[in-house]
Amino acid sequence: MYFTNLHNSFTMKRLVVYLVLVFLVAPLAAQVGNLTPITLQAPDKTRGLPVMQAFARRSSLTSFTAAPISVRDLSDLLWAANGVNRPDGKRTAPSAVNAQDIDIYAFMEQGVYLYDARQHQLVPVVAGDHRALNGFRAGEPVPALCLLLVSDVSRFRMGTDSLKLVFAAEDAGIVSQNISLFCAGVGLGTRPRALMDTQGIKTLLQLGPTRHPMLNHPVCPVP
Ligand SMILES: Cc1cc2nc3c(=O)[nH]c(=O)nc-3n(C[C@H](O)[C@H](O)[C@H](O)COP(=O)(O)O)c2cc1C
Repeated sequence: MYFTNLHNSFTMKRLVVYLVLVFLVAPLAAQVGNLTPITLQAPDKTRGLPVMQAFARRSSLTSFTAAPISVRDLSDLLWAANGVNRPDGKRTAPSAVNAQDIDIYAFMEQGVYLYDARQHQLVPVVAGDHRALNGFRAGEPVPALCLLLVSDVSRFRMGTDSLKLVFAAEDAGIVSQNISLFCAGVGLGTRPRALMDTQGIKTLLQLGPTRHPMLNHPVCPVP
């Protein structure tokens, strides 16, 4: 009897600790500094130019503006770039052996977020303005949003290390073109860029040896 009561009280204590962890600590875990996840809007699949007109408009922007990007544009841009577009979890961008190796980080004034395609939300990674790491020239206006494409080559379950890097480049290129065509279709401007502070980004985002920054895309309304 004594033992049973002791056991019950121990189980109760464990339950209380568990509930505290679930309700108090878990939401804090999603919080970085004062940043919380950004819930994105369901994609508007009816908007934008017909695809051939978007091709006709596609070009790389040569100068950026600091004008804000709406949540509507941010939501549709990320979904078009590499969102989930089928019930089986496959994406708007194909990937070699369906590795889905490309992660998209959104650099904004308040911090850096990771696009969670399954939940269609932006999860905070690090607070603060780190957009400059994406290679802007001194004095150049920094756009409100810069997307960074990172390949995690550990997600390729086959191939040599060099083949995995080829896959990574191919997969990044496809996501990049999704971004460029979406932008062309809705009146946003962008430019794919390989030159950036790769080491600074790896350090900031703690990317480790298998995750490679491939390209970035500043995005702003067309001036
Ligand atoms: C893989 C790749 C890497 C690029 N890297 C840079 C870059 O680091 N900086 C830059 O200003 N433009 C970069 N660009 C943009 C090209 O310079 C641009 O696409 C090219 O001049 C053709 O212009 P268009 O995109 O308007 O057709 C890159 C483009 C690609 C496809």
